[in-house]
Amino acid sequence: MDAATWPRRRFLHAAGLAGLAAFASSTANLARAGAATQSADFARALEANPMLLGWRSVSADRLDGEARVEGRLPAELTGTLYRNGPAVHERFGQRYAHWFDGDGMVQAWRFDGERVSHRGRVVMTPKLAREDAAGRRLVSAFGTHVEDGAPLRRPDDTNAANISILDHHGELLALWEGGSASRLDRETLAWRGFKVWGERLEGAPFTAHPRVEPDGTLWAFGYAFAPAPALVLYHIGADGGLRTARRVDAGPLGMVHDFVVTARHLVLVIPPLVFEPAPERNPLLDAFVWRPELGSRVLVVEKGDFDARRWYQLPAGFGFHHGNAWEEADGTIRFDHCVAVDATLMSETMRFVMRGEFRASAPMRYTRFALHPDGRAEIEPTGEEAEFPRITPALTGRRNRCVYTLGAPSGHAPGWRLRRVVKRDLERDGATESFDYGPGVLPEEHVFVPRPAPRAEDDGWLLGPCLDYERRASGIAVFDARHVSDGPVARAWLDYPLPLAFHGHFSPA
Ligand SMILES: [Fe+2]
Repeated sequence: MDAATWPRRRFLHAAGLAGLAAFASSTANLARAGAATQSADFARALEANPMLLGWRSVSADRLDGEARVEGRLPAELTGTLYRNGPAVHERFGQRYAHWFDGDGMVQAWRFDGERVSHRGRVVMTPKLAREDAAGRRLVSAFGTHVEDGAPLRRPDDTNAANISILDHHGELLALWEGGSASRLDRETLAWRGFKVWGERLEGAPFTAHPRVEPDGTLWAFGYAFAPAPALVLYHIGADGGLRTARRVDAGPLGMVHDFVVTARHLVLVIPPLVFEPAPERNPLLDAFVWRPELGSRVLVVEKGDFDARRWYQLPAGFGFHHGNAWEEADGTIRFDHCVAVDATLMSETMRFVMRGEFRASAPMRYTRFALHPDGRAEIEPTGEEAEFPRITPALTGRRNRCVYTLGAPSGHAPGWRLRRVVKRDLERDGATESFDYGPGVLPEEHVFVPRPAPRAEDDGWLLGPCLDYERRASGIAVFDARHVSDGPVARAWLDYPLPLAFHGHFSPA
C-alpha cells in the first residue's frame, strides 16, 4: 500500500510514543520513577556536583552570542552547524523525570571563516505553547507522568521536537520520533508547523535518524503501536517529494531509534524492548519491557520493494545509534552499532541524572556486524565504549573507512563517561586515535564536515560542541579530522552554558 491508498484513519492512529502518552496519562498509578523532581532539589545537587550542569534547564528561550575564538579557524569552514536536544528540563517548578522529555532547543553555530556566532531558540511547539498558556503541564511525556493531564486531541500534542535536526531540499526540520518532524525558519529558527510528507500522512511517526544518501535521496522510518505494532517506511526523493510510505509488520516491537541503509537495502535492528502496556506500567517508559529471550532481530528490506524482506537473529542487545552500512559484492551487509547488553542506560541512567544522580548502566560498545546471504549473522565486538557515531555524509550507504565517536576515558571515570572524541580506522583493524577533553569538560556528538573538494575520506573537520562545566561556558571545538589526536585547531567559547544536546547537522554556506 502506498501513501495514496493509505486509509486516513489508520495513519492518524499510527503514532508511536505520542499516541501512547494518552494511555499513560489516563492511568492512576504514579510510579516513583515517573515522579517529577523539584527544581530546588536539583539545584542543590548541582551545587555538589557541577557536572550536572549538562542537565540543567536552559537559562532562556532565546540566546544569541558571539563566540570568543582561540586558535585559528579554517578559512574554508563556512556554514552552520544546527543542533537539537532537550533543553527545557524544568517547568512550573518541576523537572521532567527523563532526559528525553525536555522541550527542544535548536541551536545554530554559524562559521564564516573568521568568527563563530551562536543562536539558540526553544522550539515553540503547540505542546509548549499550550502548556505556557495554561500555566501548567498538560501532557505526560516518555518518562514523566502528569496527573490530571489534558486529553490528547492528536498525537503531536506531546511532540517536543527535541532529538535531532535535518536540512533537506532547503527545508530545516526539527526531528522527534513519536510523531511529526517540525518545520523551522532557517534564520529565526521559529516553529512553522508540522511537516506532512504526503496525503494521509499527517501525524505519522517519523524517525529522528533519517538517512540521506549523497544524491539527496532520503530514507526514513517510524514505529507505531496502534492499531497494531508496525514500522512505517519512507522513501523521499532529493526534491523533497514523497515516493513511498508503507506500513510493515515487524512482530514484537518496541523502541527503534536509528537504522542504516546500503546501496540496495534498509537495515533495522529491533531490540527486545517490547511495548507491553499495562495500567501499572506508568509512565510510558515503563511499558517497554526487556525481553532478552527474544534476542535482537534484524529486518532487511529491499529499497525497491518494501515487500521483499528477510530477517536475521542476534543476541539480545540495546543500542541507539549506527554509523553506517554497506553491501559487498557477494551480498554481505556490514554495519556498525553502539550496543549494550541491556537498556539500563535509557531506563535508569537517563532517569536518575534528571534527579541529580549518576547511576552506572551497561555501557554502549562499538560493535560491527555482518549479515551473510545464507542467513548467518556475525558479530565483531571491540569492547570499547562508544556513542554518537558519525561518518562523512559522502559515504552514507557505501563502504567507509573512518568513524568518529565519543568514548570513555581509560580507568575509573565517575559520572558521565563520554569524555573523549575517537577516530576509528576500520581498514587498520579498527585502530583509533583520540583526544581527551580532560576533567571539567563534557563533549557532545562530533559532526564530520568535509573540506570543499576533499582529497580523502577524512579530509575535513570535526565540529565538537562541548560544555566546560567548571567555567560554566559552552563552546565548540574544531579538529582537523586527519589529526584528531593533535587536539582542536580552534575553539570558540560562549559566555553562557547550554544543556547537553543530542544531534547536529552541518549545512554549508
Ligand atoms: Fe539519536
